[in-house]
Amino acid sequence: MASLNDIRSTFLNYFGDQGHEIVPSSPLVPRNDPTLMFVNSGMVQFKNLFTGVEHRDYQRATTSQKCVRAGGKHNDLDNVGYTARHHTFFEMLGNFSFGDYFKEEAIPFAWNLITREFGIDASRLLTTVYHTDDEAFEIWRKVGVPEDRIIRIATSDNFWQMGPTGPCGPCTEIFYDHGDHIPGGPPGSPDEDGDRFIEIWNIVFMQNEQFEDGSMRALDMQSIDTGMGLERIGALLQGSHDNYDTDLFKALIEASANLTSVDPYGTKNVHHRVIADHLRSTSFLIADGVMPSNEGRGYVLRRIMRRAMRHAHLLGAADPLMHRLVPSLVSQMGQAYPELDRAQALIEETLRLEETRFRQTLDRGLKLLDEELAGLPEGADLPGQAAFKLYDTYGFPLDLTQDALREQGRAVETEGFDAAMAEQKAKARAAWVGSGETADAAIWFDLEEAHGATEFLGYDTETAEGQVLALVRDGDAQDKAGQGDSIAIVTNQTPFYAEAGGQVGDTGTIRTETGAARVTDTRKVAGVVLHQAEVTEGQIAKGQAAQLEVDHDRRTLIRANHSATHLLHEALRRALGDHVAQRGSLNAPDRLRFDFSHSKALTLEELKQVEAEVNAFIRQNGPVETRIMTPDEARGLGAQALFGEKYGDEVRVVSMCALDGSGKGTDGRTYSLELCGGTHVARTGDIGVFVTLGDSASSAGVRRIEALTGAAAFDYLSAQDHRLAEIALALKTPPAELGPRVQGLMQERRALENEVAQLRRQLAMAGGGGVAPEAEKINGISYLAQVLEGVTGKDLPGLIDEHKARLGAGSAVLLMADTGGKVAVAAGVSDDLTDRVSAVDLLKAAVEKLGGKGGGGRPDMAQGGGRDIGGAEAAKSAGAEILKGV
Ligand code: ALA
Repeated sequence: MASLNDIRSTFLNYFGDQGHEIVPSSPLVPRNDPTLMFVNSGMVQFKNLFTGVEHRDYQRATTSQKCVRAGGKHNDLDNVGYTARHHTFFEMLGNFSFGDYFKEEAIPFAWNLITREFGIDASRLLTTVYHTDDEAFEIWRKVGVPEDRIIRIATSDNFWQMGPTGPCGPCTEIFYDHGDHIPGGPPGSPDEDGDRFIEIWNIVFMQNEQFEDGSMRALDMQSIDTGMGLERIGALLQGSHDNYDTDLFKALIEASANLTSVDPYGTKNVHHRVIADHLRSTSFLIADGVMPSNEGRGYVLRRIMRRAMRHAHLLGAADPLMHRLVPSLVSQMGQAYPELDRAQALIEETLRLEETRFRQTLDRGLKLLDEELAGLPEGADLPGQAAFKLYDTYGFPLDLTQDALREQGRAVETEGFDAAMAEQKAKARAAWVGSGETADAAIWFDLEEAHGATEFLGYDTETAEGQVLALVRDGDAQDKAGQGDSIAIVTNQTPFYAEAGGQVGDTGTIRTETGAARVTDTRKVAGVVLHQAEVTEGQIAKGQAAQLEVDHDRRTLIRANHSATHLLHEALRRALGDHVAQRGSLNAPDRLRFDFSHSKALTLEELKQVEAEVNAFIRQNGPVETRIMTPDEARGLGAQALFGEKYGDEVRVVSMCALDGSGKGTDGRTYSLELCGGTHVARTGDIGVFVTLGDSASSAGVRRIEALTGAAAFDYLSAQDHRLAEIALALKTPPAELGPRVQGLMQERRALENEVAQLRRQLAMAGGGGVAPEAEKINGISYLAQVLEGVTGKDLPGLIDEHKARLGAGSAVLLMADTGGKVAVAAGVSDDLTDRVSAVDLLKAAVEKLGGKGGGGRPDMAQGGGRDIGGAEAAKSAGAEILKGV
């Protein structure tokens, strides 16, 4: 019997042999459709190929596409587990032609595959066509389907539309008749919803495009889009019409039965089915980057997880169960979807964490529910208030409560629930308004309330489509913005990283059908991401679909710097001690900066050690992993959290691995572990090279290191090297010997400087003439007044002292030096004379004649400055006059 894995391969290989490119499934989070919560059919990733906006180097493709229908329009969650064919997650097999083949080939392709390759009995098959599609009717007839088994359908059942807009067209469907022992009528009949006739394949003739204004136009090219649920065809080929009877589901159901010791096929079978289905959707969503949260996609994930967890509880599981089933799922599907294999640890941790936390309130919530129900009349609905309390206090998503009531044939009064929810939001808003936040932030809060937080897709993609929700200029919402306008653009989802945690905001472009804008910065207010932009082309309007594209090169540089910052942090702790804690950081494209607590400058040795260690880890090229855990768990693993900072229930942890066993933890793998919301390289080797630009003081007790990575680091090192080579050439010394050589030169220079100073003094003492000048005698005092050349103001006191020593007791000296437009003056008086005449008086008298002001000092030595050396003779005489008078 062919397994689901075999059937998937048979399908892909069949179309591969017919010239189709076997394309991997796209991630579950649509990158190219802002209106879609999750990818829900195979054609989503090819949407723009059908409309001709995008071209690839193939015109035929085949895929097995991961699909989730658990949120938004197609929501099968309520029924999952209770029916034979509803799933939150399923695989859609499809073949696609982009303007290549059309009906004439698509129909025989499908017919041959199912009747020949799969060997399905043709007499059990019937088909439907759109009522006006004579062509398709004729082709079916030609391949051998009797006319009475080709049913014309006039409803939208046979006109396929992706959504309110986009490519669409008539379709034809293939049905399998399970036999008259099962109730149900053929398609188009009143009891078509029965289980007898099951649709197995839908083939869409993509030939139109639906527009927002309601008009529909023919596409330039005619294309094919088909979809066949793997689980359905699998059940059929394995002789059942219950998808949960297939080999893959049986394996999961049996794993659940083994771990809970509950009969897989007894009365509790429904719980195993719910668990098996939800295990698939939650695991694949986590592998594609969705994390449980209270909004948007994350909330859909949480709802599915919690629904599964209640069913695990109903099986009597005493401990968290879901994460223990992940290995079974990976062994079933990991080969077809390697992303599942890669994310196994993340999936297990995320499930375990969610289940551990939810179990704490699940029991109490269920008890409350029982109490509420006990007070209600038989069959009455649960009041909305009670359901809201379960939601608000015990974390019960509404559909979980509904699911719990279903077994009792009851429902929830949803109006009361919605009213209670609205009231809570109003209260939160009132509290916020009262908190004194600035008024112009109100618009962001309004947006948050209207649309929820902006969904960030940028951990694993740098391009995505989003819908323009608002255009805001100076705090006012605008309907459109034209060329040259500066505007903040808000979209429902974005790959742009908003500045946070030291990582700068992304830049890039946003394009719509009618215009383009250059994003110069990205910030976040109240959960809303603002793309600060200037419209560069045409016009951008609210409501439009937009292509968002981050500047890839710049983001790559930022990522490298951010990851290097983590390595630097750890290397500093190892080199300096555990007191090193982050105090601030900047992760920009051109450099990184890291501030940390440490009270003294790093020695050259320490800096070298840190730099060498960071580079050693870069070369190890260890993987960089992201996980979600509680703050306590993260601290337990040694995460570098900022103490005193508030964290939510869950934290994102970025770890970098040491491949040489020199890391932390029991396995010696984890080198760096930090709570971080930023974007990082995939492997440390992506950083390239790391170089510090030195360490400086940032504030008291905080040091700052600036550093470069990658090409910037290389350019810096290379420029340094070239400079060194130039110097080596100039000094005619090999680079390796430059150190001692420069030291030698500096010593020589110091010696020469001393010698010059000595000579200058000698020369000055000699008055420039080679012989010591004579002092004149005034009033018994030896008075030496002199203008010097080639000396500076600094030299004068020393020279005064030397003259005083030479002339002995009873001497007074006045020296002046022309220092280029200014005159330095100093006066000195021997100690025995200071009580009769002060050097300060001599100086002041001289300064005045030299056109200066002020000056001062002690009675034995004073200094000042003038402007005009022309007054030198007058200054000498002024000094002489003072001495005459003492
Ligand atoms: N896109 C088509 C479907 O989902 C094939 O049914």
